[in-house]
Amino acid sequence: MTVLRESVTLPNGAVLPNRFMKSALSEGMGASDRGPSKRIERLYNRWSTGGYGLVVTGNVMVDGRHLGEPGNIVVEDDRHLDRLKSWAKGFQDHGSPIWMQINHPGRQANALGGKRQPVAPSAIAARVPGMMKPRALSRNEIRDVIERFATTAAIAEAAGFDGVQIHGAHGYLVTQFLSPLTNQRTDEWGGDPARRRRFVIEVLRAIRAQTNPSFAVGIKLNSADFQRGGFTEEESRDVVRALVDEGIDLLEISGGSYEAPAMMGQVAASTAAREAYFLDYARSVRAITGDVPIAVTGGFRTAAAMERAVSEGDCDIIGLGRPTALVPDAPKGILTGVVTELPSANVKIGARSILGRVTDLKAMDGALDLSWHADQLHRMGDGKEPDPNRSWVDALVMLGVRNGPAAFKPRTRSIR
Ligand SMILES: Cc1cc2nc3c(=O)[nH]c(=O)nc-3n(C[C@H](O)[C@H](O)[C@H](O)COP(=O)(O)O)c2cc1C
Repeated sequence: MTVLRESVTLPNGAVLPNRFMKSALSEGMGASDRGPSKRIERLYNRWSTGGYGLVVTGNVMVDGRHLGEPGNIVVEDDRHLDRLKSWAKGFQDHGSPIWMQINHPGRQANALGGKRQPVAPSAIAARVPGMMKPRALSRNEIRDVIERFATTAAIAEAAGFDGVQIHGAHGYLVTQFLSPLTNQRTDEWGGDPARRRRFVIEVLRAIRAQTNPSFAVGIKLNSADFQRGGFTEEESRDVVRALVDEGIDLLEISGGSYEAPAMMGQVAASTAAREAYFLDYARSVRAITGDVPIAVTGGFRTAAAMERAVSEGDCDIIGLGRPTALVPDAPKGILTGVVTELPSANVKIGARSILGRVTDLKAMDGALDLSWHADQLHRMGDGKEPDPNRSWVDALVMLGVRNGPAAFKPRTRSIR
């Protein structure tokens, strides 16, 4: 286990002490005023001693009117600055850097969270249970959202976070601009690949304009959206090229959306069997990323596969999502040789023949997997240990409690 111990230097000069990154996991633990809670600090305490080279927070919203989930933290001005400082400082006291992932859900907004019509590049609904048809953003509103990303980043910097990660994956607003399936605009924000990627480039520029050069700015980007007629690997590589030219500090690769949850392992069996779902794509962008390190997230479970991916040069950093909800000190375990394989909870809905009649099982499996792992985060926030034996029924109940009955409705056809 030598290579995973090695540090990595980012273009902004920051040094990550090793090759493990805790990827963003939405905690849903914001306080009632949408600021960070004591529970979230308790949860991050667990990760702070886990031996990570970098920890990325769950997605923080840039606009309180549009939430991905009811419990999201929102940072749109400095009203929560003291508690944000306490969150960052409490974590950094133990060593590794912490970045805030910043996001706008666009059409994937949760109806219970924002209580208003979602916005998106075009008025095209996501075919996901419980999601409402969005309305198209005006050009002024697009400028406003871009500035919001920059404001949130500037506040994160003021609070002491070491960087931000733009959420450019999983079907949220940035990917909605990138994908031809969701962006059917004909103005300067859509119509061809260059105009579709303009939004993310402008977000990066706006953040750079409002933060210091030593502040890290990374992105989690989809390799593809895994849908026919959608955002392709070729287009994704062009986005990477543009982001590298604009001075991104770290590229994390993922894929899919709530309509096609590749990031949760709903990929071809042959891909899933190779453990890391997006490694082939990562290999294909190596030549264009120069000295910008690449992290890959999705599917890594064995120490041997992690070691191989880094030593063979397919990626520089190993992103871990779900395993960190069960084994919060996963890197420590692997680096000391105590752990050779992380647990992989295959959470699937039971009673399939009955429930399959009233809901979309594939979409429900993805939602249940998320909910089951979110429950583990909540346990740690309450000062308890994760529970690997938690039943899918309990996770299903919590899914309903957090997201309301709309979470179980079969998906409707998108309105084009
Ligand atoms: C409970 C839960 C919450 C998640 N929240 C986020 C999030 O806020 N932002 C994000 O980019 N990815 C999020 N993800 C996806 C993970 O970061 C990761 O991409 C995915 O779980 C695949 O990696 P893994 O196989 O290591 O779990 C979430 C996943 C889970 C299970």
